[in-house]
Amino acid sequence: MPTHLRHLITLQHLGAETLEHLLDRAESLREACAHGTRRIDLLRGRTVLNLFFEPSTRTRTSFELAARRLGADVVNFDITSSSTSKGETLLDTLHTLEAMHLDALVVRHRESGTPEFLVRHAASGVSIVNAGDGNHAHPTQGLLDALTVRQHRRHFDALTVTICGDVLHSRVARSDVHAFQALGVRDLRLCGPGALLPAPGELPGCAFSDNFDSAVEGADVIIMLRLQKERMVATLLPDEAAYFERYGLSQTRLRRAAPGALVLHPGPINRGVEIASEVADGTQSRILEQVANGVFVRMAVLAELLAR
Ligand code: NCD
Repeated sequence: MPTHLRHLITLQHLGAETLEHLLDRAESLREACAHGTRRIDLLRGRTVLNLFFEPSTRTRTSFELAARRLGADVVNFDITSSSTSKGETLLDTLHTLEAMHLDALVVRHRESGTPEFLVRHAASGVSIVNAGDGNHAHPTQGLLDALTVRQHRRHFDALTVTICGDVLHSRVARSDVHAFQALGVRDLRLCGPGALLPAPGELPGCAFSDNFDSAVEGADVIIMLRLQKERMVATLLPDEAAYFERYGLSQTRLRRAAPGALVLHPGPINRGVEIASEVADGTQSRILEQVANGVFVRMAVLAELLAR
């Protein structure tokens, strides 16, 4: 049995057994829902609070749906003005919310390390779930990407996975790398303009490239990333048309990948910048499956952390 999780901050060091257990749990919840079960009252009487300091569509909505489908009470706190800083203010927020007897705090913050900070200060009965912190981690996205791939390909160790785009600023890329490596992927390629790639030492075991044509060659899974301009300190890029030319996933470029390669993107998509519309909406796109799986993965995580 994998060790019991109290918080979910990062997938790093979680281990294959725990990841597979969470994916199995998400799969059985998907099965149950496919058979018409709309609500599973595992978390009746528990309270989940969504505390989002950054904008979010998919992640916040799916955490909300996930908690509701498990019978929990959900409160949404949208603090999109990111001027609220760490320290007193955040702690005050935490203690105020704790006084309302919450069981889980789902937090998104522009600063890496905020969820860990909350773990250090949270009351003993409160679970912290990271819904994305800075460029550090987005564990439920890593899980839902792994689940989406597992739905189509059984053996991770035989797969070539290419992640392309703004890897430097991407918490999704980091959580994907941690998930796919733990699950056995050996050929993991990170691609983007040199200015948007992290130092190779940060993500050991990955191949780094600034040439998308070669990085996509023979890939079984291609994960495209958005240019996260809100995290860029200076203009690190040529214009968008030039970017698409070199790093965009077009139908022509997709032909270099393995036949039937799966195309993923965490969203939000910039059509014509990192991905062509015909690819995003094409037969190889798994983007909407990712969204659907997001709910089951978040149900699995909340059930794992909170069920008595
Ligand atoms: C991602 C995020 O916020 O990290 N989106 C998401 O959660 N689906 C990626 C992004 O914003 O580009």
